[in-house]
Amino acid sequence: MARATIKDVAKLAGYSITTVSLVLNHREVSIPKETRARIWDAVKQLDYRPNQLAVGMITKRSRILGLLIPDNSNVFFGDMSRYIERAARHNGYNLIYGNTDNNPNRNLEYMRMFIDRQVDGIIFSKSTAPGDNSDEELNAYISKSSVPFVSIDRRLNNGSVKSVILNNRRGGYLATNHLLQMGHKRIGAYTGLINLADSEERLEGYRAALEEAGIAYDPAFVYQGDYQLGREREALAHFLDRRVTAIFCFNDLMAVGIYKAMRERGLMIPEDLSIVGFDNTPFGSLIIPELTTVAQPIKDMSECAVGLLLSAIEGKEMKDSRNTYIFEPQLVVRDSTQRISV
Ligand code: RIB
Repeated sequence: MARATIKDVAKLAGYSITTVSLVLNHREVSIPKETRARIWDAVKQLDYRPNQLAVGMITKRSRILGLLIPDNSNVFFGDMSRYIERAARHNGYNLIYGNTDNNPNRNLEYMRMFIDRQVDGIIFSKSTAPGDNSDEELNAYISKSSVPFVSIDRRLNNGSVKSVILNNRRGGYLATNHLLQMGHKRIGAYTGLINLADSEERLEGYRAALEEAGIAYDPAFVYQGDYQLGREREALAHFLDRRVTAIFCFNDLMAVGIYKAMRERGLMIPEDLSIVGFDNTPFGSLIIPELTTVAQPIKDMSECAVGLLLSAIEGKEMKDSRNTYIFEPQLVVRDSTQRISV
């Protein structure tokens, strides 16, 4: 059956297309209640849904946002997507998603696809990889784009895009200081992607905590990770060779990988090694022992990103002229760390 049109609704209800349009668009004009009721009845009977493309051509709005995330296998981004979708829906917008799968070449590919599909704006957390230097190209594309962008969690270097990020340095400090307070001095750092500001800043926080405790920073205690599963066995071997007593993993996913690698060696947490993660994803309280981690206020960050994007789309003057919105982390102490006396 062909899709019902506004003409069909007008015919069935017995009113002009103009009257039907006024009622469907909730215009504040004096139309009798009975008329409104008959028109909505006809809409229901015909299952009439306005052609969004046609509406978009008139209002120049699709009321659709594009959301780009780097790794949909990481629960952190699943959580973030959920909060962004809720905030968008609450404001009458839908989302189309793209997972760039940790491949920096897909950032621009998806941005172009979203704009071809008439999104009103884009929120993105970029994919990157060692050797990637595509930020300049992304900045150039975004600065010439017809729609607004907001980055969340990961930001473009030297960009003018409004960004919502965590105080990652503070997060790295909290994780490391917690271990120092428990008597650990030989603390491994299992980092995220080396060319990501958030990983660099977590490492700065790690170094600041060591320095404050009078412990010299030793790069031998750092193992380059990538925020994904897959390197945990090599990472653990690296740390065990250096006789660490604790490992700060720069995200929960890599901490879970270390759990598995330790289990394979018959090692116990926290008896043999204390482990701290980062992100406070839901599985941190499901694994045994429950994971001590650093929480990101991802709901607040997501709502902030949607608010910034909608203000830009709707042309609302921003009283707050900041370009970067920084949120504070929180240490969540559970059972994967223990005091030692060295
Ligand atoms: O877990 C994924 C990591 O990458 C998070 O810590 C988040 O900050 C993102 O950058």
